[in-house]
Amino acid sequence: MGLVTGRAGGGPGGRELRSPLVAQLVCLEKQARTCKLCALSATRTNVVFGTGDPEADLMFVGEGPGHDEDIAGEPFVGRSGKLLDMLVSQEMGLDRTRFYIANVVKCRPPGNRDPRPEEVESCRPYLQRQIELIDPVVVVTLGNFALHAVLETPDGINKARGRAYPLGPRVVVPTYHPAFALRGGGDVVAAMRADLIRAKRALRGDL
Ligand code: URA
Repeated sequence: MGLVTGRAGGGPGGRELRSPLVAQLVCLEKQARTCKLCALSATRTNVVFGTGDPEADLMFVGEGPGHDEDIAGEPFVGRSGKLLDMLVSQEMGLDRTRFYIANVVKCRPPGNRDPRPEEVESCRPYLQRQIELIDPVVVVTLGNFALHAVLETPDGINKARGRAYPLGPRVVVPTYHPAFALRGGGDVVAAMRADLIRAKRALRGDL
C-alpha cells in the first residue's frame, strides 16, 4: 500500500477537532530533528521537515533537500522552489501559507545525488505520519521519487502524470519535479501548469 492512508480528522466537528493533530505534528518534527536512522544524518546541516499550513487541504511532496534547503532548514527555497511558488500562485492562486510542503527524505543527499532506497525507507514513517496528521485532500507529488513514495505504481512520471489518482480518502496528482522543468523548458512547464489546474479541480471535488 502507498503512503496515503485514512483521513485522520474526520467525524462530526471536522476541522475544529484537529489541533491535537497539529501538536502531534510538532512532536514528530522534534523527533525528526534528532533522527539518526540513516547515513544522511552525518552530513546534514539541518533536518528539512516541512513547512506551511499544518491543516492544509493541499500538500506537495518533493524528493529531498538540496544545498539551499539544507542550509535554510526549509524545503524548496532555491530556484526549483521559486519556480514552483510562481506556478502554484499563477495556476492555483495559493501561496505557501495555504499549503504544506515536504520531501520524501528530510536530509540532504550529499552532492545532490538521488536518495538511496535505504534512506527512503528510513524516512518513510515520517512522510507517512505527516500525511496522516496534515490530512490533506489533495497530494501533489513532484517527480519520480515522490510519485513512488506516495503512490504504488510501476510507472514513471512521464506515464503517470496527466491524471488524478483517488487513493483512500485523498486524490494524488503527480507532476514533474520543478528542477526538471528548469532544465526541460516550456513543454515541461506547460505540463506542470496543466497538472496544477487538475489539482485545483481535485480540491474543489470537480474531476
Ligand atoms: N528539491 C526537492 O525535491 N526538495 C527540496 O526541498 C528542494 C529541491
